[in-house]
Amino acid sequence: METFVFPNTIKFGVGSVSALSEALAELGSERPLLVTDPGLIESGLISEFQSTTGLVGAMVFSEVDANPSERNVRAGVEAFRSGRCDGIVGIGGGSAIDAAKGIRLLVHHEGPLGDYGIREQGWSRMTQPMPEMIAIPTTAGTGSEVARGALLIEETKGAKIAVVGPRLFPSMSICDPELTLGMPNWLTAGTGMDALTHCVEEYLSPQFNPIIEGLALEGVRRASSSLLRAFQEGSDIAARSDMMVAAMLGGMGFAKGLGIVHSLSHAIGGLFGGHHGTLNAILLPACLEFNRESCLPKFRLLCQSAGIQVEEVDDQGCADAFIQYIVDLNTNLEMSLRLSELGASESDLDRLADYSMKDHCHLTNPKKPMLEDFRNLLKRHL
Ligand SMILES: [Fe+2]
Repeated sequence: METFVFPNTIKFGVGSVSALSEALAELGSERPLLVTDPGLIESGLISEFQSTTGLVGAMVFSEVDANPSERNVRAGVEAFRSGRCDGIVGIGGGSAIDAAKGIRLLVHHEGPLGDYGIREQGWSRMTQPMPEMIAIPTTAGTGSEVARGALLIEETKGAKIAVVGPRLFPSMSICDPELTLGMPNWLTAGTGMDALTHCVEEYLSPQFNPIIEGLALEGVRRASSSLLRAFQEGSDIAARSDMMVAAMLGGMGFAKGLGIVHSLSHAIGGLFGGHHGTLNAILLPACLEFNRESCLPKFRLLCQSAGIQVEEVDDQGCADAFIQYIVDLNTNLEMSLRLSELGASESDLDRLADYSMKDHCHLTNPKKPMLEDFRNLLKRHL
């Protein structure tokens, strides 16, 4: 196991989950609330995790939807209080870890959750103490384990909002690639494409942040060399480790901002559901096409990071090659989803475009999108 700090403490490596009880003691938590999702309870992973980490008697909260909501968070706060808990362990994919962050916030802060949204500068209202939190990812995609925000569905409007603030960084993250070995293929593919999309959108964001540019390109390199391998050979621990690093790098890069892929997938996910990473995967090629002229010179490094030979190729050729690479990767990962399969139809396009526009991610997109652009992009995926 390796330990490093950037910006929270991260314990990384196969078997690192065994460091949990020591980590809780270090943070002064004797009665942590385990926040997870129903799928992980059903799979038996949580009971196995509880026995390996000595947390057999710990209180478990698992009323977490695939797209976690304010209602989930409020129920979690109740569980925290009734169990007289003194810390939180969020274990699972992005849904469980984001719900855990929401619970952590609302334990000592008055609601509604919408008051803490990034577009309302909610971080300035996060003034009360928060319980210590350890994040343990069981997927490799979200990056939430090293990020300062959570995506949650606001109760009143039904929209996905980003609750973001420096105090929401988990106190510690334990990233154990062994926990991802049992992921089904479709989830390996979807979460992996989420990690890759984070890195691509962060790199293309026009914000000045050379540190994150480096992290994002390294994330693209790792995901490109290992995602297909992790999908085809789920027990390949080297590929699983690479994907966990790629996810972590993508999570560390959120401060540079994302782009229109995430604005669209947040709107669709909030209104119609659907797996977040899968939505990103299918939206990414058309969104790259939309952005290409606004960030053309950047495609060369994306290609090189993805292992695509572009020595004799001009910038337009690099953009073609990278977009085609994503299309082929989606095919190889068996990623396919139409919005109509989620129940969306032509009559929903205006509302989806409107929600996309209200999302914060497109503010750092290389090309400023108009409402009509969102509508056209959505229509292509109906
Ligand atoms: Fe994402």
